Amino acid sequence: MSAAVSSLVFQGLLVLLVVTHVQSQSQLSFAQNAQTISDLQYVLGANYKMFVAAYWRYMYGGCDPLATKLSTDIANGYLKSYCTYLTQCPVVSSSQSCIVQQSATAVRRACCKESTCSYGLAFPSEKIIGGQPAVIGEFPWTAMLLLDGRLICACVILDDRHAITAAHCLSRLVGGEIIEVLAGRYQYNLTLKEEGNQRVKVTSYKQHEVYDYRYLYNDVAMLTLSTPLLFTAFVTPACLPPRGDNPELSCTVAGWGTISSRLILAPQVLMKVKLQTYNKTECFNTFKDTSQPQGSLGLYLTDGNLCAANGLLGGQDSCSGDSGGPLMCLKKSSDNVLRYYVFGIVSGASDCARPGEPGLYSNLLYYMDWIETNLRSS
Ligand SMILES: *[C@@H]1O[C@H](CO)[C@@H](O)[C@H](O)[C@H]1NC(C)=O
Ligand SMILES: *[C@@H]1O[C@H](CO)[C@@H](O)[C@H](O)[C@H]1NC(C)=O
Repeated sequence: MSAAVSSLVFQGLLVLLVVTHVQSQSQLSFAQNAQTISDLQYVLGANYKMFVAAYWRYMYGGCDPLATKLSTDIANGYLKSYCTYLTQCPVVSSSQSCIVQQSATAVRRACCKESTCSYGLAFPSEKIIGGQPAVIGEFPWTAMLLLDGRLICACVILDDRHAITAAHCLSRLVGGEIIEVLAGRYQYNLTLKEEGNQRVKVTSYKQHEVYDYRYLYNDVAMLTLSTPLLFTAFVTPACLPPRGDNPELSCTVAGWGTISSRLILAPQVLMKVKLQTYNKTECFNTFKDTSQPQGSLGLYLTDGNLCAANGLLGGQDSCSGDSGGPLMCLKKSSDNVLRYYVFGIVSGASDCARPGEPGLYSNLLYYMDWIETNLRSS
C-alpha cells in the first residue's frame, strides 16, 4: 500500500521538475489539461500528496467509486480537514480527466466559497448516449414530488424553501392531499432507507397563471416548503442560466420516470440521458414533418418551450413520470468552473422516444421573471 503511494508521489515530482524547466507561464493551461494522478499537484497545490495518499485506492478504482467516496467525505466533514493545506481554490476544466475533475470539484466544494447554486458531483461521461443510472449526488437539485406518499413527478430545488415543477403535475388535485418534496433521493423504491434524504411538506403551490392543460402552455409551478432544506452534498439548489444565455446543443435530462415507452417500468435509481436540445424555431424546423399528428407541433410549441430528442432517431427521451425534472446543460460559469445549468423542466411529449417526435420542456429562461417574482412572494 505505501509502496504504491510513494511511486505516485515520485511520478508527480518528476513532472514538476520537467515542467518548471519548460515554462511556468503555461501553469494554468497545464492545470486545466491535467490528466493523471500526478498532475493533481497543479490543480490542488503543493500539498496534493496528502490528498492523493488518502484517495489513491479510489482513484485507481475509476470515476464512480471515487465520486462516491468523495461525496461521503464531503458530507461527513472529513474532506474539510484538507482545506488548511490548500494554497488556492482548485481549477476545474472539461479537458481534465475524470479523476482530476472529481478531485478538484470535491476539494472546491469542501474548501471554497461558492455562489449559492451548485454543481453535482460527477461530470457526465462522454461515452454513452442513452439512458443510464445517474451517480449518487450527481444532480443534487433533483428531487421527488410525492402525493400522499407516492411519487408523481420530479422537481428542481431553487433555494432552501422553493422548488419548481411542471404545472400539470398538480392538475388533478382535489384538496386535502399531502404534497411533499423528497430531496437527496437516489433509489426509486421508497421503502428502501437512504441516508441524506430530506422529506418536507409543501405548504403551498402556485401553477403559472396562464397554464393551459390542453396544450401544456406555461407548464411550470412553484412549490413552497414548510421547513427549509439543509444543503449537503446530496441536496443543493440548481443554477439557473443567466439571462440571454442559450442552451448547449447537448444537454442531460434526469428523472425516475418509466424506462419503457410501452410499459410502466420503474427504474431502480435516478436515471439520466443525454439529448440534443432545440429552441422553438429549431424544434419546429427539425420535427414539423415527422411529429404526429401531422402539422400539430406548431400548436404546442411556444416561446416558453425548448425541445430535446435523440435527433430524429428516437429511442431516448424523457417519459411518463419524469415530468417536472431538469433539462441541464453543462457550462462554464464566470469563476471558470463547469456547472450544470437547468434550462428546462420536463413538460410533455405525445409519444416518448418515438422517432421524429421531440420531448417538450418548459424553457426556464422564458419564465425567469415569473420565477423571481414567485421566489420573493412566497
Ligand atoms: C421495495 O423494497 C422492498 C424492501 O426491500 C421490497 O419488499 C419491495 O418488493 C420493493 N418493491 C419493488 C417494487 O421492487
Ligand atoms: C435558435 O437557435 C438558432 C441556432 O442556434 C439561432 O440561430 C436562433 O437565433 C435561435 N432562436 C432563438 C429564438 O433563440
